Amino acid sequence: MKTQLKEHIFLIGFMGVGKTATSHALSKLSGAKEFDTDQMIVKQEHKSIPDIFAEEGEEYFRQRETEILTRLRDLEPGIISCGGGMVMREVNVDKMKEQGKIVLLTATPETIYEHVKDSTNRPLLNGNMNIPYITKMMEARESKYRAAADIVIETDGCTPKQVAQKLLEKYAQIG
Ligand code: S3P
Repeated sequence: MKTQLKEHIFLIGFMGVGKTATSHALSKLSGAKEFDTDQMIVKQEHKSIPDIFAEEGEEYFRQRETEILTRLRDLEPGIISCGGGMVMREVNVDKMKEQGKIVLLTATPETIYEHVKDSTNRPLLNGNMNIPYITKMMEARESKYRAAADIVIETDGCTPKQVAQKLLEKYAQIG
C-alpha cells in the first residue's frame, strides 16, 4: 500500500523506543521519505551528538532541534524521526502540530534498557545506564509525550513492521 502523505508524520518517544526502526519500516510500507532530526544536526554541526553535548552543552543542542523543525517546512511531507527530547520544548510541539501528526511510540523501561544498554551515543544516559534511572526519566517526560501525541502506539513485543502497520491503520482513522 502506497500512502501519499499530505503532511509530515513525527515519530516521538523515549530514547531507544525504536523510532528509527519504525521510520525505516514505515518508509518501506508507504514509500514516504525519511528524515532524522539527530542525523540532520550531526550533519550540520559536523560533530557527533555526545561531542555536541560535551563541547557546546545541551541547550545549544536543543536550539538546533528547534531550528531543524523550522527547516522541515521546506521539505516534502515525510516521516520525521525526532530525538527523544524534542517534545520538552513547547515551541517544538507547536511547530510539529503546524506541520503534521505526532505519533508517540511507547515501551516499558525494561525494553528501552535492552535497546540502549550498549549505546555510547546517548549523553543523557552515560553513567546512568540502568532501569531505575530510565524509569525516572520516562516518568518525568510522560505527560509531555502524551500531551503532544495525536496517536499512541505501544511497541512492546512488536516488530518495526508491525508498529508501522498499526501506525498506518490509526493514521487512516484520524485522516
Ligand atoms: C535525547 C535523545 C537522543 C538525542 C539526544 C537527546 C533525549 O535521540 O536527541 O541524545 O533528550 O531524549 P534518540 O531518542 O534518537 O536516542
